[in-house]
Amino acid sequence: MQELVDELEAQHGLSREGYIELIDGRTPEVAALLAQRADAVRRSIYGNAVFTRGLIEISNICKNDCLYCGIRRSNRNITRYRLDPNTIVACAREGYEYGYRTIVLQGGENTTYYTDEVLCDVVRRIVDACPDTAVTLSMGERGRESFQKLFDAGATRYLLRHETADASHYRQLHPKGMTLASRMQCLRDLREIGYMVGAGMMVGSPFQTTAHLAADLSFIQEFKPDMCGLGPFIPHHDTPFANEPAGTLELTLYLLSIVRLIHPPILLPATTALGTIDPMGREKGMQAGANVVMPNLSPVDVRKDYALYDNKICTGDESAVCRGCLARRMASVGYEVVVDRGDIRL
Ligand code: 5AD
Ligand code: FES
Repeated sequence: MQELVDELEAQHGLSREGYIELIDGRTPEVAALLAQRADAVRRSIYGNAVFTRGLIEISNICKNDCLYCGIRRSNRNITRYRLDPNTIVACAREGYEYGYRTIVLQGGENTTYYTDEVLCDVVRRIVDACPDTAVTLSMGERGRESFQKLFDAGATRYLLRHETADASHYRQLHPKGMTLASRMQCLRDLREIGYMVGAGMMVGSPFQTTAHLAADLSFIQEFKPDMCGLGPFIPHHDTPFANEPAGTLELTLYLLSIVRLIHPPILLPATTALGTIDPMGREKGMQAGANVVMPNLSPVDVRKDYALYDNKICTGDESAVCRGCLARRMASVGYEVVVDRGDIRL
């Protein structure tokens, strides 16, 4: 196992078989070794800095029906909302005041209200209001022309998790009509347009095997996304996966370390989902090689409605509280939340 870790670190990757062996043969000792290497590599590039992204959940209205997701179209038990442009821009300004230099607009797939025109206008207004701030979008698949218009309006980063790099597993997690091929095409389009691109997957999603995870890691090794969202699957009670077990802290941390070693400069968040399955999840995520956190900047009155999974943390806290809380949490394990756009250092 030690040799595999050495090879991973030196070559920035392994064969499929190598990943499978590394994952299936994991022990607490190997996890500690990986975390130590990942932390060292991250420190050599970013020191002990933690970058923050202010996340504004602009709408839970979604035309998709992903089987794992609490805001899927078929869920009749949630109150749907969308923030209007003025509210979104006000949240972004507030975030800027708190020290955020990256604003992420995230929402369900919905091009009826958030047309290119409306969204481009919001992007332009945020760019104007918040100097030296990166506007990131996480709005699902929208098509190349739309991605281009939003880029021209000033958005420079796009988060679109691939969810799983195995096409048949992708079909098990999504309704007919959604394909891995289309997701991958979006990622390539985004990159070609010039965006910094975020991919990522859930850990422990239903039907997931070690071979699927190895495929995810091979994809990351090949595509080298600028960012990678990697958090545990957590069941939502109003979805077909309500009774499926959640992904584990242990495997998520292990994969965070591997991804750091595959692509040392990658921007790697310790996700809210990780903080949800373990009270110290995000702190442990940093120690395993993560370097980003994404506190919530959404208006408090809509937060409980943006429930992708059950028991999500930080749904009752004011945005200022959230940032302060995270800064303290990070400091408790020796990391420093900085005021910075947090660009990738390639
Ligand atoms: N558990 C964990 N993560 C989830 N996501 C959606 N539903 C869940 C869930 N039940 C993740 C997906 C999506 C991101 C915005 O949230 O990976 O890309
Ligand atoms: Fe949101 Fe702690 S990070 S309250």
